[in-house]
Amino acid sequence: MTAWVLHTELSLDEVNLHLAALEVAGLLGIAEQSGRASVYLPRRRDDLPLEGRWEQLADRDWNEAWRSGIEPVTVGAVRIVPPWLHAADDAGAPAVTLVIEPAQAFGTGHHETTTGCLAALQQLDLHGQRVLDVGTGTGVLALAAARLGAGEVVAVDTDPIAVATAIGNAERNSVHLDVRQGSIEAAGAGSFDLVVANLDTATLVRLAPAVPARLHEAGVLIAAGVSLERQGEAVTALQGAGLAVTVRPGREWTVLVGRCPGAAMPSESTRHP
Ligand SMILES: C[S@@+](CC[C@H](N)C(=O)[O-])C[C@H]1O[C@@H](n2cnc3c(N)ncnc32)[C@H](O)[C@@H]1O
Repeated sequence: MTAWVLHTELSLDEVNLHLAALEVAGLLGIAEQSGRASVYLPRRRDDLPLEGRWEQLADRDWNEAWRSGIEPVTVGAVRIVPPWLHAADDAGAPAVTLVIEPAQAFGTGHHETTTGCLAALQQLDLHGQRVLDVGTGTGVLALAAARLGAGEVVAVDTDPIAVATAIGNAERNSVHLDVRQGSIEAAGAGSFDLVVANLDTATLVRLAPAVPARLHEAGVLIAAGVSLERQGEAVTALQGAGLAVTVRPGREWTVLVGRCPGAAMPSESTRHP
């Protein structure tokens, strides 16, 4: 079996705008080096909304080539390192190091939606908190929440590959996560101090009415996966569900923080645990 790589002149964030089309095409992985993203697919697809130079790779080589493009990433006090670089990684001593095997799940830690959530997580005091991660992918946000002090973390994803990857990453990091296949309804009983949901705009809009029931009265929602162009849709849906929403725009993507109106402000801090 062979794979194909499309070498683009685009950044990872620009390529990620086409993630839905790439996933339909069977996306194997995306890597960025020197600001240019390479997209790995099982076969050449000239109908994609991306331009670049195609190269055919032997199966053994594509995995190696893709892996060589993934570098550690640091967001505040959290450093994310792929397993094959962990032993050699000497970034000093960040408070939290997570070893994340991306496999075929989303969440190497590099995407702006993930880094935005990681930054927002670190502005909350998570000690002892009950956290739900909707759309956990590799488990990166759930694992970060657990290592930042959360008392209990439930992680759900509709994709069985993501579920298996998140379970593997929890074991790899010796962190207990309650990982379940499904969406917000799979989270089980009880409410949460924090719901984090890095999804996409359409899914977030669809799930918005179900969020307040999962938050306890002083609970917080951190939502991402919404491009700047579409943040109005997401804000309207979350406000329609009864949440007060704060918008934190990034370069191309927005993080939305939702709270039940009238709830006392949760303890926020800028300190790193
Ligand atoms: C953008 S990725 C986020 C991965 C990771 N949480 C991160 O921040 O890097 C979105 C994830 O949501 C999952 N997903 C999509 N629709 C979902 C839904 N309705 N409920 C739960 N998970 C969903 C996808 O399978 C994917 O793993």
